[in-house]
Amino acid sequence: MLAQWSYISSSKLNAIDAEERIQEIVHVSVPRNRSLNVTGALLFSGRRFAQYLEGAPAAIEELKASILRDSRHSDVRTIASGKTPHRHFVTWSLAYAGPSHFVADIVERSLNDALEKGDEGIEALIQMMSEFSIRGRS
Ligand SMILES: Cc1cc2nc3c(=O)[nH]c(=O)nc-3n(C[C@H](O)[C@H](O)[C@H](O)COP(=O)(O)O)c2cc1C
Repeated sequence: MLAQWSYISSSKLNAIDAEERIQEIVHVSVPRNRSLNVTGALLFSGRRFAQYLEGAPAAIEELKASILRDSRHSDVRTIASGKTPHRHFVTWSLAYAGPSHFVADIVERSLNDALEKGDEGIEALIQMMSEFSIRGRS
């Protein structure tokens, strides 16, 4: 049987060196996940983590115990857990998307939409621009 666990947590990392600290996490996670035959992905928004892990139930439980007691994040909320019929990240011990990738993907999608949809797409583009500029100010 294949198990999965996904959660969202609040980052306790300082914005200044968050990327470096996450590289340390990824550096430890990739070999450990590989040795446990666990695959998955980690997303970081700048404020929160989202992670999805899949593998043998005992391996997922072992990682979950480590991750839950890790002080680099808090308020770990399980989104889903239990059986999964197949792997979603067959070749990834831990796919990682940091804030720059995360934002770039959203921007790319909006730009493609704007080009494809014309007038309709410009509304979404303006919406995205205003959301990002509010974030830029705060
Ligand atoms: C957001 C986040 C995600 C993590 N993901 C993994 C992971 O996928 N695999 C892993 O081995 N460790 C992961 N870690 C690190 C573990 O919490 C832990 O520090 C590491 O596995 C060493 O385990 P130990 O503290 O039980 O010795 C993650 C930590 C954080 C903060």
